[in-house]
Amino acid sequence: MHPPIVEFPVSSWLASVEAALREQALETIESGGVLYFPRLGFELREEELRFLAPTWSDGKSKNIYLRGKERNLRGFAGSEDDALALAALIERYAAEARHLLNELLPAYKASLESSNTSFRPVEAAGRAQSWRHDDSRLHTDAFPSKPTHGRRILRVFCNLNPEGRPRQWRVGEPFPDMARRFLPRLPRYRPWLATAMHKLGITKRRRSEYDHIMLHLHDAQKADADYQKNAPQMAMPFPAGSTWICFSDQVLHAAMGGQYLLEQTLLLPVAALRDPGRSPLGVLEKMLGRALV
Ligand code: SIN
Ligand code: FE
Repeated sequence: MHPPIVEFPVSSWLASVEAALREQALETIESGGVLYFPRLGFELREEELRFLAPTWSDGKSKNIYLRGKERNLRGFAGSEDDALALAALIERYAAEARHLLNELLPAYKASLESSNTSFRPVEAAGRAQSWRHDDSRLHTDAFPSKPTHGRRILRVFCNLNPEGRPRQWRVGEPFPDMARRFLPRLPRYRPWLATAMHKLGITKRRRSEYDHIMLHLHDAQKADADYQKNAPQMAMPFPAGSTWICFSDQVLHAAMGGQYLLEQTLLLPVAALRDPGRSPLGVLEKMLGRALV
């Protein structure tokens, strides 16, 4: 079965993980699989249960999140005290996710850079405003304003739903199959345009050709209705009280429904992978026969 969704019997964020499981985790994630922890939930404290309501969102951004290193709370509507309490909850999740990753994938520990941590209290079904922002369409992640220059996007998701509703995902075909399909259709990279977008502040650094390709792959996948319907895929309902981890720049994924999710994003340099050749950068460079960063 592709993609492999591999279950791990880890039920505590602070568990110690034996060598064989670590090996399986590394092999699964680098081959484009999803690490699935059916019984790893995130405990809310009594006084935090009030945050399980969509009204805490400011309605403008899809998620409430703590940003990168700054750690200021974005997308939130509420009092200063409430903001502090929710930020503390999100920060606790960030710490537990990081702890688990360090234990499960120790080979990445020294190179992993923690980025945004989000809380998603809005129903995932029907929240999109445009096809490009519609995460219920299969896609690989790419950041329009934050070029990664090949760095991997690693994400830790946890379904907090108090009514026992799953996070309904679809997971698609292997990255190389998708890339072969869409690469011939992408617009050419224009270095001068990447420079101009950086100078104008549209991107935080200059888009490399890699970033250009990853963004246009994301768009091409989402814009293709036939691909969405007929490409190889499987439905995966992640139950309430479960956690899953994947490289979301590699795994084709779509969120069809569900409510109340925590998510931690981390960035990983390609050089920290055991096998950089299986990364999107490695795959694309091989297919195109040239360096992309
Ligand atoms: C996504 O990363 O595309 C959405 C994941 C989710 O909210 O379940
Ligand atoms: Fe995504």
